[in-house]
Amino acid sequence: MPLHKLNEEDQELYNRIFQQNRKWADDKKKRDRSFFTAHFKEQDPHFLYIGCSDSRVPIGDLTGMDIGDIFVHRNIANVVSLDDDNIMAVLQYGVEVLKIKHIVVSGHHGCGGVNAANSGVHYGKMDSWLDKIRDVRLRHASELDGISDKNIENDLLAEYNVIAQCENLMQIDFIRKGYEENGFPLVHAWVYDMRTGLLHDMEFDMDAYLDNKK
Ligand code: CO
Repeated sequence: MPLHKLNEEDQELYNRIFQQNRKWADDKKKRDRSFFTAHFKEQDPHFLYIGCSDSRVPIGDLTGMDIGDIFVHRNIANVVSLDDDNIMAVLQYGVEVLKIKHIVVSGHHGCGGVNAANSGVHYGKMDSWLDKIRDVRLRHASELDGISDKNIENDLLAEYNVIAQCENLMQIDFIRKGYEENGFPLVHAWVYDMRTGLLHDMEFDMDAYLDNKK
């Protein structure tokens, strides 16, 4: 029981989380008695997922992946910021310790972070984070400025943002070196369309990026 005084509705929601958790754990154990003990020993995920914090993008559910399958980092608008200790630690641990072979940056249409960065409005504390997306916008300003439908403009910026964040990944020494020497990790750009529930692979081309940098 939480110590906080909650109204009836909030208390019910809070309780439901624990009820559903017990049911989930029971169901897993019914199907496989050693499910939790086996997973407790180690993790061997094949994917490192960098996604948006948005509550409407449940990456495990929408890919059918279960516990142990995906190593996850989420932030507002799936940004790979090279001066962010948090994501850098996730990436280094994922690549060097867990030996993950696939790093996915996944954005989504209807992204509140992208829309905010594209709105011209200032948001105080959040602005230094949104500036990272505004930088992406600046690089595509001539094309984006020419779009009259704001939703289409926002969604296109969300897509450019995913590509830009993949390019940021390519600047990280242990990712670039690993790929050039061993062929791994591979970097993938995905966009999730909340209107249809479908993921789209934007086919990020690592070699083309490296060739351009030569
Ligand atoms: Co979002």
